[in-house]
Amino acid sequence: MALRFEVLGRFNRARAARLTLPHFVSQTPLFMPVGTQDNSIFACWWKSNNQLNTLVIYLVAGTIKGLTTNQLEEIGCQIILGNTYHLALRPTSELIDEMGGLHKFMNWPRAMLTDSGGFQMVSLLHLADITEKGVTFQSPVDGKPMLLTPEESIQIQNQIGADIIMALDDVVKTTITGPRIEEAMYRTLRWIDRCIAAHKKPNEQNLFGIVQGGLDPVLRDICVRGLVERNLPGYAIGGLAGGEDKDSFWRVVAQCTASLPEDKPRYVMGVGYPLDIVVCSALGADLYDCVYPTRTARFGTALVPEGVLKLKHKAMAEDTRPIDPTCSCMVCKNYTRAYIHCLVTKDAMGSQLLSYHNLHYMLQLSRDLHSSIIEERFPDFVRGFLQKMFPKGD
Ligand code: GUN
Ligand code: ZN
Repeated sequence: MALRFEVLGRFNRARAARLTLPHFVSQTPLFMPVGTQDNSIFACWWKSNNQLNTLVIYLVAGTIKGLTTNQLEEIGCQIILGNTYHLALRPTSELIDEMGGLHKFMNWPRAMLTDSGGFQMVSLLHLADITEKGVTFQSPVDGKPMLLTPEESIQIQNQIGADIIMALDDVVKTTITGPRIEEAMYRTLRWIDRCIAAHKKPNEQNLFGIVQGGLDPVLRDICVRGLVERNLPGYAIGGLAGGEDKDSFWRVVAQCTASLPEDKPRYVMGVGYPLDIVVCSALGADLYDCVYPTRTARFGTALVPEGVLKLKHKAMAEDTRPIDPTCSCMVCKNYTRAYIHCLVTKDAMGSQLLSYHNLHYMLQLSRDLHSSIIEERFPDFVRGFLQKMFPKGD
């Protein structure tokens, strides 16, 4: 295993831990910013003469839209997510080798995580079809059918070299019911063995398995047991935040965290909202990722302790306060709401400043969760968080 996970403090099921990865030592609970979909590292695969060729169709450095890697370090970002996307017609390994590895190419010295690609194909391209062999989809380049197998996904992720790599899973929306949920869960379990067999760098990169099974506790339980048997370095809870109600979502997280090993990191994929991160951390989850803070920034929305602040609103035009007077970030120290209101509709700088503040907010929330658990004041912290967000108690 290429990680160490040390629990430093607990409150009931919540834990604060030190996660040591090859490129960085992180503190959990932790939010991991995502390279946005249209501006991220992605690879494209095709097969010829039975030989796998990996193509990077277009590769953009600095994957978090509007922020430099220096700024990401400045706000305390510890792990970033690289998506695997469609980029320049050159073999990945060659290009990445030429650039001295992806960490070096992007100038990102800290930890990185890559997702396996199938979920992105299904959720973004809407052209994907899943069979036992893998995820088939139409090439966004020429429309030809392509196949991403568990082996290829791992091979590509081995080439990219992230600290954490994700197994290829069969993801079904939680709002779907019936036999498809069961099929996807069992397929995810069959694919994990193909991923493990294909993983060539277990001493440098950590392969996480992903728990599927929809909202069905029996299926989730079978999946957790199956993955835990494989003794992986960490586990993710997948298939959530896809439109199910909060109660069902939290119930699945609670069930999975209760039966996943205490001494391994637990990552809730695609989550999320500040409230979800607080709740999932209370339930014993450690890692999160979501495009929400940067996506909502592009729509002119700032994350604040009271919830959200819409900078496009007329009321902001003459408001000389910072976005959040209690925030210590560069944006709140230097700019007024009125100025950002002016920028948001006219200049890319508006969404860049908002992304900076929003990611700072998520990382500050991560640090607050960590320290409140360590300092044995987690319940007070959660109470304060909820009171600010829901002052009327609703
Ligand atoms: N991102 C958000 N949810 C998921 C999931 O269930 N699986 C994968 N691979 N990525 C995700
Ligand atoms: Zn701020």
